[in-house]
Amino acid sequence: MRKPFLAGNWKMNLDRRSGVALARTLAARSVTWSGREVAIFPAFVYLDEIVRATAGSGVRVGAQNLCDEKSGAFTGEVSAAMLKDVGATLVLCGHSERRHLYGEDDRLVNRKLHAALSQGLDVILCVGETLEERKSGSTEARLSRQMTLGLAGVSAEDLARITIAYEPVWAIGTGVNASPAQAGEAHTYLRGLLSGLYGESAAAAVRIQYGGSVKADNIQTLMRAPNVDGALVGGASLQSESFLGIVEVAL
Ligand code: PGA
Repeated sequence: MRKPFLAGNWKMNLDRRSGVALARTLAARSVTWSGREVAIFPAFVYLDEIVRATAGSGVRVGAQNLCDEKSGAFTGEVSAAMLKDVGATLVLCGHSERRHLYGEDDRLVNRKLHAALSQGLDVILCVGETLEERKSGSTEARLSRQMTLGLAGVSAEDLARITIAYEPVWAIGTGVNASPAQAGEAHTYLRGLLSGLYGESAAAAVRIQYGGSVKADNIQTLMRAPNVDGALVGGASLQSESFLGIVEVAL
């Protein structure tokens, strides 16, 4: 059985005070959570403090991005070793905003993923089609390419440290979530791809989160769709009531 995994991507939101307060609230409530995994992704500059605010709780802390290089003259970048050093245990790779606003292609996403794995960080690999791709019937081709190139060189053993997030670009931050049928179809296709790459039993163990306008009032129906094992939440993860509403009904 796959343990439901709910993650909050804070993006470039919340300041020190509000981030720490939110992290403390979640950490305190985490004693009542069983059978699910929860992670939050604050901005780099607050990671250290948020890791301390959640120490010993059921809340994991991850970074939204990392550099594909180990160290050196890469002004403005943050390495996997630095993330590990401050206590982050996971990282997002290939989020739609990195791909579309900052031009990250599948090969760079793959190098970042390997940089993370080499430092023992777990990874959430984000994939998803644009509206044009969906309309033109190329959703599966896009997902296949993102998965094959994104996971290139990843061993079956390392696959156990990877979660996939299916985030259709048209659903992110728009208030228009994929229907449970659309999510179920895409997730089932993604698991099939994993099966082709790694075999059925390795594929069956991988969590596939849905992301894109997830809220407390749609999470339950989305999670009833086949192969939906949790959610990557943006906007609704910025306030304790809305994120707790998602975490606490998602089983
Ligand atoms: P959203 O963002 O929940 O605000 O749509 C999801 C994401 O980008 O991970």
